[in-house]
Amino acid sequence: MAPAAIVSDISLPASIPESKVTPANASHAAKFSLSNKTIVITGGGRGLGITLASAVLEAGGNVVCLDVLPEPSKKEYAALQQTATESGLLVSYRNCDITDEIRFEEVMKNIAAEAASTGAPFYGAIACAGIQQKIPAVDYPAADFERILKVNVTGTFLTAKYAAKIMIESGVQGSIVMIASMSGQIANRGLTCSAYNTSKAAVQQMCRSFAQEWGQYGIRVNTLSPGYIRTAMLDGLLATDSTLSDIFMAGAMLNRLGAPDDFKAPAVFLLAPGSSFMTGADLRVDGGHCASA
Ligand SMILES: NC(=O)c1ccc[n+]([C@@H]2O[C@H](COP(=O)([O-])OP(=O)(O)OC[C@H]3O[C@@H](n4cnc5c(N)ncnc54)[C@H](O)[C@@H]3O)[C@@H](O)[C@H]2O)c1
Repeated sequence: MAPAAIVSDISLPASIPESKVTPANASHAAKFSLSNKTIVITGGGRGLGITLASAVLEAGGNVVCLDVLPEPSKKEYAALQQTATESGLLVSYRNCDITDEIRFEEVMKNIAAEAASTGAPFYGAIACAGIQQKIPAVDYPAADFERILKVNVTGTFLTAKYAAKIMIESGVQGSIVMIASMSGQIANRGLTCSAYNTSKAAVQQMCRSFAQEWGQYGIRVNTLSPGYIRTAMLDGLLATDSTLSDIFMAGAMLNRLGAPDDFKAPAVFLLAPGSSFMTGADLRVDGGHCASA
């Protein structure tokens, strides 16, 4: 297999001759630009996913939010539409269950065809859809365990699979970011979430396997592993136990839990050409939790 060519759609600092440009020495803005690119975000109907959609727009990319919710969160999606309009960019929403392979493949093919027709080809995905559940391991019903794995592992697998297929077929050297969690590396104090933790460790290993297989096409695959983020998912956990907040804060080196905005720059970094030598890696962004004993 021939080695992948250097990504070419980047602008140059004036001092560098065009023949010598690489993603690594492109202008600062180009390193973090998603201009002329379309990114799909699963779980893009609310929470972290819809916030990352705004990050893609801010980096100059078009974005497609995909979620099992019939409609995205009204307020956040209206803000996305306003940003897109003001910037001459595109945002759209697709209702789709990522575990329904037949429907998901069809939706991804449509998205790629539409993206190609707008001059901003499909360039990458953020696999952000996920579910959580807190049950002691000795009581965990197998059906619930399997349901968590189906969405978090199989759904992430399908997202990456169809994103890579489109890129391979169209010759695009893009980037796939899979949202894992610090829970893929540690067992959280106060949480009995064995299925979720298992699923996130699986996502981190899946990343290395995909990176190994798709590096030959110039496709990069990395995981972004957040610590605690104040979203509906975390609020649901906090509501189950009044002691959890103090337990979480005990490991918060920066004296706060994360906000969805904290993950915008890390996600854009992993998608954009500036991280062109990074694949098969995990970027942990956890406010110091995993460094705290
Ligand atoms: N909130 C946290 O503290 C935290 C920490 C680490 C990692 N994460 C991860 O971040 C990601 C986003 O979580 P969040 O906190 O925004 O939670 P959230 O519940 O607000 O958002 C998750 C989204 O995924 C969607 N989804 C669920 N199943 C789906 C399916 N089968 N098909 C399509 N969409 C589906 C949901 O409808 C929802 O919109 C998840 O992967 C989660 O595991 C969250």
